[in-house]
Amino acid sequence: MCYNNIMIKFNATAPDGQDDTKNLDLNPAKAAIEELKTDPMAGWLNVPVYPSELEKIKQAAKTINETSEYLVCIGIGGSYLGHKAIIDALGPESKTKVLYAGNNLSEKSLNRVLKEIEGKDFSVNVISKSGTTLEPSLAFETFKQKLKERYKYDDRVRSRIYATTDAKTGALHDEAEENGYTTFVVPDNIGGRYSVLTAVGLLPLAVAGVNIDSLLAGAKKEKTEIQENLAINSNVPAELAPLVYATLRQKYHGKYHDVEVLAVFDPDLQTFEEWWKQLFGESEGKNGKGIFPASVVYTTDLHSLGQYLQDGRRNIMETFLKFPLAGYNKIAETATIAAHKEGRIPVFEIEVENLDAENLGRLVYFFELSCAISAKLQGANPFDQPGVETYKKNIKSML
Ligand code: PA5
Repeated sequence: MCYNNIMIKFNATAPDGQDDTKNLDLNPAKAAIEELKTDPMAGWLNVPVYPSELEKIKQAAKTINETSEYLVCIGIGGSYLGHKAIIDALGPESKTKVLYAGNNLSEKSLNRVLKEIEGKDFSVNVISKSGTTLEPSLAFETFKQKLKERYKYDDRVRSRIYATTDAKTGALHDEAEENGYTTFVVPDNIGGRYSVLTAVGLLPLAVAGVNIDSLLAGAKKEKTEIQENLAINSNVPAELAPLVYATLRQKYHGKYHDVEVLAVFDPDLQTFEEWWKQLFGESEGKNGKGIFPASVVYTTDLHSLGQYLQDGRRNIMETFLKFPLAGYNKIAETATIAAHKEGRIPVFEIEVENLDAENLGRLVYFFELSCAISAKLQGANPFDQPGVETYKKNIKSML
């Protein structure tokens, strides 16, 4: 059975072929939302977060478009995945190309970016909430040097650096203040992986030509609809899709389904899958628990991981992220979903009306809310990442 959340439809099929959304108790998910409302890290619930910054973001994007062939975005994890996901999904629409650095420590990948900008006009958006993460810090040093070599004078260099970081503290915040970089805020009450709809994502997205008003409008519509449906105490799964998705994920988690595979049929959505994996993996993988988020791009992966999904260990649930498709790809999607249902995989289908900024905004909000509820149902704090901090601490002490 298919439930219609206006533009996002969600349906779920149990391994026995039955509609999985029937007779679900959504009360624990509703209670989780009540808890989220008072959580100091759930600022993203109230999208748009900093409407007052929007004009400044658009103005900065305009300046970058007028002065730069490239914008180098420096950041890792939640500081880059969300905006890269949306740009890759929609395709660049502007003459300024957005490049990425500081999301690994590979010299080869750094050199590729350096080679591409050689002799070209470029600006830099360094994004780090803490302002101390190793990978972006090192890359920022390199690109500052490049800016100095190319633009020589301090004020020309300074005018090409945009820093998105904490409003009050951190090494990047202090440096930005001292040197007069243009700054944007990562709000205190929003962590990296929930930050794509703040300046973290909005500046690079605006530079790439994505309509950020539509993106935010989509997220806001999703929020408003859920709020309204909760206010009338709806129990109709169609009206509460994120609660249904979260509840079902945890139902299967409890039944030894400890892997969820996100499946798409468009290679341009691969980075969106990476964003989704970070969101769920960092939010839920803790205290010896959590569903392992994995991803496939079909039909390519039907000729590799498809074998495991069809026939391997039955510990996997599969979520198909469906956008309108045509021709052979549509047929392949229908055939694959049917095959995997025959293979007794619990299948969730998230059907999005159109691949555009507004629907991606909706989808971002849908996944963020689903993820936070699901983590709460699991008994995890959706907003910390002690495992990532352990690695960061270790590498610092070794250096
Ligand atoms: O979701 C998170 O909080 C993390 O993935 C961070 O985004 C990532 O570790 C980068 O941190 P920072 O923005 O402080 O450099």
